[in-house]
Amino acid sequence: MAWPRTSLRLSIALILSLTLIVVSGRTMPKRETLNIVLGEETEETPEPIPTPWPEQFHALMVMNNTNKPELQVVDLWYDWPNGCNLNLIQNQLGKLLHDVEWDNGTSYYYTLGVGDDGGRECCIMHFPVGILRPNWLEGANYLGQSYVDGFLCNVWEKVDFIWYYEDVVTKRPIHWLFFTGMSAHVMTFEVGAVLEDSKWQAPAHCFDKQAEHGTPEQTSLLRPPVASV
Ligand SMILES: *[C@@H]1O[C@H](CO)[C@@H](O)[C@H](O)[C@H]1NC(C)=O
Ligand SMILES: *[C@@H]1O[C@H](CO)[C@@H](O)[C@H](O)[C@H]1NC(C)=O
Repeated sequence: MAWPRTSLRLSIALILSLTLIVVSGRTMPKRETLNIVLGEETEETPEPIPTPWPEQFHALMVMNNTNKPELQVVDLWYDWPNGCNLNLIQNQLGKLLHDVEWDNGTSYYYTLGVGDDGGRECCIMHFPVGILRPNWLEGANYLGQSYVDGFLCNVWEKVDFIWYYEDVVTKRPIHWLFFTGMSAHVMTFEVGAVLEDSKWQAPAHCFDKQAEHGTPEQTSLLRPPVASV
């Protein structure tokens, strides 16, 4: 008969829970006393808010499209005081695409025709909004904490456009995921790093008569496709 075994298990479970109650009963008052002595409030802590981006930084990122096989290594240079943002997008065994975005709404997408680049292409786009502001995550909905890439993160969501993961301890961005399925994993994050001026200049072939002028359909890595973020 299985009955005696079950009752043995029940007794063990009971003893364990009683022990837990005793242990927690003992520790709880101690903590409360400590809080009162230290004059701390026992109220819940307010929801964390995303750390604004540094005004200038350089990040190396691995991008993975979760919807289709597409891997990229991206060098991101963000420069708010100079009103520009540069993404150097290395497609896996493919083109190295330069994406220079200016705060006046003009973006240059080009290749330089080196190696596997596939020629010297350029596309100029005009967006109704400029580059992201350092506080662009303001007003995002806090979703709680979760591990990503092995880091414990605070997680926010903004207008069903982006899910953003920030390290709880260092406050550095670890990961973000766009509604398109494109996801970024931050590999390095150098606060204050600035790219030399010459690297921001779009090449001459962008100013040929033949240079393509695009419409803002293409979703850039950071610039929202609509002015809603
Ligand atoms: C990219 O994302 C897909 C789908 O989520 C996943 O199966 C794959 O392992 C990822 N690849 C890398 C290199 O992270
Ligand atoms: C925006 O600024 C860039 C860089 O100075 C320039 O190349 C581009 O022509 C400007 N666009 C507009 C619409 O003024």
